[in-house]
Amino acid sequence: MKSHTLLMPLDMHLHLRDGVMLENVAPLSAYSFSGAIVMPNLVPPVENKEDVIAYKERIMAAVPNDSFEPYMTLFYKNYDKAFLESVADEINAIKLYPAGITTNSEGGVSSFDIEEMRPTLQAMSDMGIPLCVHGETDGFVMDREAEFMSIYELLASNFPKLKIIMEHITTKEAVDMLDRFDNLYATITVHHLILTLDDVVGGMMKPHLFCKPIAKRPEDLDALLSVALAAHPKVMFGSDSAPHPQHKKESCGCAAGIFTAPIALQLLCEIFEQFDKLDNLQAFVSDNAQSIYGICPEFKEVTLEHRPFTVPSDYNGVVPMYAGETLSWAIESVD
Ligand code: DOR
Ligand code: ZN
Repeated sequence: MKSHTLLMPLDMHLHLRDGVMLENVAPLSAYSFSGAIVMPNLVPPVENKEDVIAYKERIMAAVPNDSFEPYMTLFYKNYDKAFLESVADEINAIKLYPAGITTNSEGGVSSFDIEEMRPTLQAMSDMGIPLCVHGETDGFVMDREAEFMSIYELLASNFPKLKIIMEHITTKEAVDMLDRFDNLYATITVHHLILTLDDVVGGMMKPHLFCKPIAKRPEDLDALLSVALAAHPKVMFGSDSAPHPQHKKESCGCAAGIFTAPIALQLLCEIFEQFDKLDNLQAFVSDNAQSIYGICPEFKEVTLEHRPFTVPSDYNGVVPMYAGETLSWAIESVD
């Protein structure tokens, strides 16, 4: 039977939530990933040193001993340098959300006034703290990411030494930006390597495939696949796995977010095999991220096998992408 081994898989964009949900989902990521960049959009957001330390402790308490490294982030505000110096050792990045653009982002940035942001961004640049960005405007939903490119340009050109990570990119425009600015990087989800808008709303509406940014056009999917499959050194896997209780997804006000953490590696094997690029998956799921973030995860070896795996209908009330469907790769062992 065909098998494929991945070393130290990393999920560079993950929502773990808090409380009962954290206890439900964190072990699923800890099982197959060595570590993850953990998003700070809790209610209230993670925005001071005590919050970061306490949240990290709750994550560690929710996973089996030493099996997983949570790489912590702060919710972006125009923080001053002294504060950043005091918290730098506790975090791996700061996550910027435009205000109100997605789940729990109300306290985000409402004006991209570069002079107002300069002290914070310059200090982050000087200290080597990466800036992760949810890059969407509040324009027409299919154009939001492309419209945000001018803000990436502004940030990248004003702070050429600041590592800026365009999170969960979904468009050809974002892919093209990677080669325009040395300091721009990107995460790509597994669902955006599979879906277009057609899959979400082209037939019956699929709440479990609804997320922000929404999946785009076939030509965007092709652009994302081209850099992911080539393991372009500036792109890394970030699932954006975003659990919501079933009733919040299957409702007339469907929450944005696709829950993929427990099926991500299986799906990635399927995609990379389909294009005969399995050899590049290691770089996409770990090596690139290690270089970009300068991290050195604990050893973990995950072996997958080419055999049918039926996705559970739910994980304690959280419905994953492809619930009940059969994938062609399964996790065989984790050492
Ligand atoms: O679909 C999404 N869900 N996109 C985000 O940016 C946030 C996330 C969440 O936290 O549920
Ligand atoms: Zn996210």
